[in-house]
Amino acid sequence: TGEVAPPAQSAAAPAAQAEASEPLTILYGSQTGNAEDVAEQLRERAEAAGLNATVHDMLDYKPKDLKKEQNLIVCVSTHGEGDPPDNAEELHEFLFGKKAPKLDGLRFSVLAFGDTSYDNFCQTGKDFDAQLEKLGGKRMAERVDLDVDFDDAAEAWIDDIVKTFGDALGGTGGGEQPHPTVTAMPGAEAAPSAANYSRKNPYPAEVLENIVLNGRGSDKEVHHIELDTEDSGLVWEPGDSLGIIPENDPAVVEELIAALNLAPEETVTGVDGEVSLEHALTHQYEITTLTRPFIEKYAEQARSEALDALLAEDQRDALAEYMDGRFIVDLVEDYPIEGLAGADFVRLLRKLPPRLYSIASSYAANPDELHLTVAAVRYEAHGRPRSGVASIQLADRSEDIKLPVYIDSNKNFKLPADDAAPIIMIGPGTGVAPFRAFLEEREERGASGDNWLFFGAQHFLTDFYYQTDWLRWRREGLLTRMDVAFSRDQAEKTYVQDKIRAAGEQMFAWIERGATVYVCGDANAMASDVHDALIDLIGEHGDLDAEGAAGYLKQLQKEKRYQRDVY
Ligand code: 2AM
Repeated sequence: TGEVAPPAQSAAAPAAQAEASEPLTILYGSQTGNAEDVAEQLRERAEAAGLNATVHDMLDYKPKDLKKEQNLIVCVSTHGEGDPPDNAEELHEFLFGKKAPKLDGLRFSVLAFGDTSYDNFCQTGKDFDAQLEKLGGKRMAERVDLDVDFDDAAEAWIDDIVKTFGDALGGTGGGEQPHPTVTAMPGAEAAPSAANYSRKNPYPAEVLENIVLNGRGSDKEVHHIELDTEDSGLVWEPGDSLGIIPENDPAVVEELIAALNLAPEETVTGVDGEVSLEHALTHQYEITTLTRPFIEKYAEQARSEALDALLAEDQRDALAEYMDGRFIVDLVEDYPIEGLAGADFVRLLRKLPPRLYSIASSYAANPDELHLTVAAVRYEAHGRPRSGVASIQLADRSEDIKLPVYIDSNKNFKLPADDAAPIIMIGPGTGVAPFRAFLEEREERGASGDNWLFFGAQHFLTDFYYQTDWLRWRREGLLTRMDVAFSRDQAEKTYVQDKIRAAGEQMFAWIERGATVYVCGDANAMASDVHDALIDLIGEHGDLDAEGAAGYLKQLQKEKRYQRDVY
């Protein structure tokens, strides 16, 4: 992190300042914690500038309190097909509902997190921004929409917000004391050394083991990866993820440079200074996924009528079809730009974002190793082999390297504080990873609570990940119950939600006696099918209509007894 420029003192700043400025409320809603991190950074910076700022998880915030706010900042991500993250759902609904209050006089600003490779980029942030204005709020700074490589833009936004609200509310503006930098900002307590490892300062970890978990003949290729964390100072809790700063496949880099008709050693301005084109494309930029903003910027240079036509507003479907399964190299080949310099090409790219994987082992049980369960992403599309960046680096090229990693904590996916509380874990495929960490942790702690696992995969013989662990825990009594759905071992497909429905009565009884329900894995189909199955069983066994059952599940979510880590 570089030095953050001190906010300029505004000439319009009020001469006499109130003892404590009006409260500035910062709300965050996020699935993985990015919005939360930036919200926290904003609070620290705002406080340093003399503002009276507080941060709240949207889930813990009473929507009715909105009426009382004078200054509101919303940091919110977008999930799936333009949906709010779980912890933002209720507030989002409230703002668009009949009970939405008038917010005349409210000053607000929105920071939106998203991913330009999705169609409904930053939709939830856009919703909040538009609706707060519609309800009478006054937008103090234009909404900023962040892509996955958000660090720099987020810092610039923080500067802007601190200045804007500082001017409006009369903070000290940081003008009287030297302005602290973001990195030099001390935490509330003296942080352990591990806290020093972050996205920006990752720990170089060695890969100790790399084992394919599937048997021969399986359609899947899932790797069990063990990283050396001995003496690293890294500390994690079950439910946390590991952030990996990956490297692009050298073959993909070479192919792209060839398509661009450039020399690998050409000098370009990379993320932090001059490097070779090859270095920049290997380590610094995303060079696979196509996004609409990238294509738009590329089209400005390409001056191709065909490409411009594809970007027309009424061609969204055609563009989506073109992007499906194609990478940047395909665009470069299909619409070549005569004489494009490497330096100009690199400017169009977004930074290579870290990849997150749910951690599959418990620190308490074994601090010296960190385990991951990684599905290798390989397929062929449009006549070319395609591969996932981090998963294939781990699968194929992780021997003899130091992999830059950091812990990405996830407080929305945590074991209950009460060791005696029962838990229900639903994790088909690689979604089972965090539940291995949960059980290792509960075993280590001697936790007495009941544990129930739902697992699903295609075939019993080839895809039963960590079978020996589950069977041992079943035998020893730690795993109270396990239900498995092997989808392709019989004529009719069977999924975890079928097992959930079949066990509805017992599941409802567990929930009634305080169980927390966890879902991890595929967000697109599985998570919503499981959600529907839960509502159905709650309705049937709780004697509620559909609306009542949905309300019951929502209440569980508010109590953090329904937690999801879906991707
Ligand atoms: P399938 O591949 O046979 O369709 C882990 O990937 C398991 O999740 C597989 O058995 C897969 O089944 C299954 N699966 C696929 N779609 C699902 C869905 N909508 N809900 C639950 N499980 C699903």
